[in-house]
Amino acid sequence: MVEAGTIIFWSYSVQWKYDKKNLIISGLNYDLYLSLFPGFYIYTVDGIRYDQLLRSFEEDERDLAEELIKKLMEKNVLVTNVMGIHELFDPQQKYFMPHNNYDEEMMFDASKVEDFKRQAQQRNDKREENEIALPAYDWDAEKSRRESIRSFSNNCISSKDFAYVLNGLRQKKIPDNKRRYCYPSAGGLYPIDCYLYVKENIVEGIGGGLYFYSPANHSLRLLDKILIPKTIHYLNNREIYSSSAFSIYFVYNPCFSMPKYGGMGYYYAILDTGIMMQLLTMQALERNIGSCIIGDLNSKKLKEYMKLASGQIYLGCMEMGYYESK
Ligand SMILES: Cc1cc2nc3c(=O)[nH]c(=O)nc-3n(C[C@H](O)[C@H](O)[C@H](O)COP(=O)(O)O)c2cc1C
Repeated sequence: MVEAGTIIFWSYSVQWKYDKKNLIISGLNYDLYLSLFPGFYIYTVDGIRYDQLLRSFEEDERDLAEELIKKLMEKNVLVTNVMGIHELFDPQQKYFMPHNNYDEEMMFDASKVEDFKRQAQQRNDKREENEIALPAYDWDAEKSRRESIRSFSNNCISSKDFAYVLNGLRQKKIPDNKRRYCYPSAGGLYPIDCYLYVKENIVEGIGGGLYFYSPANHSLRLLDKILIPKTIHYLNNREIYSSSAFSIYFVYNPCFSMPKYGGMGYYYAILDTGIMMQLLTMQALERNIGSCIIGDLNSKKLKEYMKLASGQIYLGCMEMGYYESK
């Protein structure tokens, strides 16, 4: 149900085209609604109240318009809030295609992917004449040991180790009513909220369920004792999720950065998330907790399980658990 006052926008990442017979939106056919165009697009491109949009059509076309709005909202062609990462970034691929030297099959062939990875990592091997060699230092033990862990021990995580990992995100109150964190964030706004999903009987003193982490109180608020199924993950990440003790979800709250930074707040939020992920990786490693960052999952499904509001943007996830003893 869309409320009358909701402002509806045509997503700028969605293209449409039509001729006398066909209406194609984002590659799909919408011929049934041909009579509503181009007005429909012109009304929504800069945002329009839902009730006003319906009133923009003749009475006998309003049911059709209502039906189309519902369909296009389901497909994220029409949006009412800041867009998710897929809507934002997926269209970039189109502009990259003329520069893509690899066939599209590449990403489905393991040996071709491995070859592509090798080429990516070796792209700077060649020494140039004007290169200045720098002294190399050994990484400390922690840095040397870091690697993405995809299979975890089923040993119960001690409450101290669990708290230690999250301690990296803690907010500290300092004199003059100021707050500090041990990592940076654009403008000191810290607009990323962390949610924890803890599996049953695997973290000492913490029951299974979904929690919100409060950096101000360094505490967990139980939101729901739900079970989040492995199907929120894509096939190649399901085993990682099945063996982890807990997951950390990074959720951007634009209300706490866009008023200052506008659209760039979104970009900074992604940078903030990367910084937090690296910090947590190293914090966990100190307690023999391994981790794996998961770049993509079915965020629509996850958002439903988490009961996130439409303005909360899911940005990423980490899976954690003790290293398996070798
Ligand atoms: C943004 C990002 C997304 C990633 N997504 C996944 C993922 O979905 N599944 C996975 O197994 N590893 C994922 N990784 C881990 C990388 O595959 C891994 O860091 C890379 O292969 C280098 O290996 P290492 O971390 O063991 O050194 C991701 C890492 C990053 C930084």
